[in-house]
Amino acid sequence: MATHKLLLLAGDGIGPEVMGEVKRLIGTLEAKAGMSFEVEEDLVGGAAYDAHGVAVTDSAVAKAKAADVVLLGAVGGPKWDGVPYDARPEAGLLRLRKDLELFANLRPAICYPALADASSLKRELVDGLDIMIVRELTGGVYFGEPKEIVDLGNGQQRAVDTQVYETYEIVRIAKVAFELARVRGNRVTSAEKRNVMKSGLLWNQVVTATHKQGYEDVKLDHMLADAMGMQLVRAPKQFDVIVTDNLFGDVLSDVASMLTGSLGMLPSASLGAEDPATGKRHALYEPVHGSAPDIAGKGLANPIAMIASLGMALKYSLGKPELADLVDRAIADVLASGLRTGDIWSEGKTKVGTTAMGDAVIGRVEALLAA
Ligand code: IPM
Ligand code: MG
Repeated sequence: MATHKLLLLAGDGIGPEVMGEVKRLIGTLEAKAGMSFEVEEDLVGGAAYDAHGVAVTDSAVAKAKAADVVLLGAVGGPKWDGVPYDARPEAGLLRLRKDLELFANLRPAICYPALADASSLKRELVDGLDIMIVRELTGGVYFGEPKEIVDLGNGQQRAVDTQVYETYEIVRIAKVAFELARVRGNRVTSAEKRNVMKSGLLWNQVVTATHKQGYEDVKLDHMLADAMGMQLVRAPKQFDVIVTDNLFGDVLSDVASMLTGSLGMLPSASLGAEDPATGKRHALYEPVHGSAPDIAGKGLANPIAMIASLGMALKYSLGKPELADLVDRAIADVLASGLRTGDIWSEGKTKVGTTAMGDAVIGRVEALLAA
């Protein structure tokens, strides 16, 4: 039996609470699903800053590189508003993405039927919604140089961020999108701003050229990124796979996720390239939601996105797609039974906290495993 190496980086705010539920689920998978894990834990974000003065230590990055799967809770909070820019909590997450070369960020936006009424859009627009946003994660304006604020000496300053993409970065993310589309609805929509940005022009050309090199069975469309923002709230079900750059992907994935009723529901995967020798790839899984400092420590947080992140790890890193489906089914069943954390609660439903929601999902996983 293969032993999988997991690194848990719970982080800040509600991170440790939602990670606690995942730890229990890991125990269940060992006891009841015949899996074997070697689990390590470390700090990231503000928690790492408080302990070590940096947002992630070299030794935590080394552990992340050695792990089959990194699970990350959340980083950040007002407590660290004043820390130096390079040590801010987000810097820990960005360093992990860059050092592990996690260039492909998969952000599914799925609307569970039981939650369609929690969406800000009408039920018929979102019921059954199933979009996969593929966001480029190690390039573009997040990492381009120069990145600086320069004193102009005349009382003025100039801030520069650099949006930069090279061909290979666009090719590899486009391939991820086409390959995912093949096992879903077989459609990819690529978003950029070729009407104002050189990087958008190259993005468009390279995605088109990559499509011609063995992916023509997949339907490809292009859309300007602003128009996509509009279409996502007008008629979101028109999309299957969306592929876009780091910054547009950050914005559009927040829009898409809110269509589903709650940020507290959505997992994400950040994947590196497959090592041809071992077939393995670096991988980090995290909820799309943030650290929610306002409810941290109160036992109110929704653990579903964190649990679903372990589900994605089962599918994309641990070779257990059927177990991933089982976890998803358990979540859907628990929602259908009427249990809700505060973020997804509505009239007539039963409000529960983090642990009770974790109990319910884990209990349902055990029941489905035994069936
Ligand atoms: C995300 C977050 C991060 C990002 C922050 C925390 C640096 O918003 O993962 O979407 O901008 O990428
Ligand atoms: Mg974001």
